Amino acid sequence: MHIRIFRNKSIASDFIANLIVDKINSEKEFNLGLATGSTYLETYKNLVDAYKKNNVSFEKVKTFNLDEYLDIDRNHPQTYYHFMRTHLFNDIDIERKNIFFPPVDTHVYFHSFDDIIKRNKGIDLQLLGIGNNGHIGFNEPGTIFNSKTHLIQLDQSTREQNKRFFNDNIDAVPHYAVTMGIQTIMQAKEIIITAFGEKKAEIVNNMIYGRVSEMIPATILQNHSNVTVVLDLEAASVILRKRGWQDENNFYKLQNSY
Ligand code: GLP
Repeated sequence: MHIRIFRNKSIASDFIANLIVDKINSEKEFNLGLATGSTYLETYKNLVDAYKKNNVSFEKVKTFNLDEYLDIDRNHPQTYYHFMRTHLFNDIDIERKNIFFPPVDTHVYFHSFDDIIKRNKGIDLQLLGIGNNGHIGFNEPGTIFNSKTHLIQLDQSTREQNKRFFNDNIDAVPHYAVTMGIQTIMQAKEIIITAFGEKKAEIVNNMIYGRVSEMIPATILQNHSNVTVVLDLEAASVILRKRGWQDENNFYKLQNSY
């Protein structure tokens, strides 16, 4: 795992957006895996700005979202589809046919999403956030590592964590979601996992240095050959406290700009 620590989340988000822009511009086609949640809001804003400044076009880009809630209307403001439209898709030149979400229609096999990804030649770069319990996508602790896209019952702690998006009303947070599986995620050619803020510091330490275990889904990323962990100083605080600025595999460098 490559670990990059930035002074704050704005600088980190600049880094991620610029990396994405460079990759899109250097490839004929590009398949981008997207995450929702608050972590990538600034990255998406930067991508919109880059598009508006003519620094990038999304005409040749296909996107694959990690997860989607079940049992809420597709146009509900808290669906991840709506989130992505509001924060990215509505303001860039991506074609609607190139936007892919896990199927939430129960007549469709959920794992057909893996076939769609394969048919489109796989995900070049997958963005991931991390839940406080170590979930990636909505793969909650205990999800088997060889899972494909599947239906999952959300942990109570995840529903608590996400109720801030539902006017702090836990009853409004769905109980189920469809998520790319761990295997689906691990098949991405490259992964960026990002965490901001002190609340994530402990789980970030476990993800990087803990034993690989299905009880902390993000630990599986230790086995992927091309993962970059992007952190602000607060999310890095536990690893820095425990290891200083260097460990056996990584030399952490504080980046004030990128
Ligand atoms: C949700 C999403 C995850 C995301 C997580 C982190 O649970 N399903 O994919 O990683 O939130 O959210 P945030 O970025 O708001 O911390």
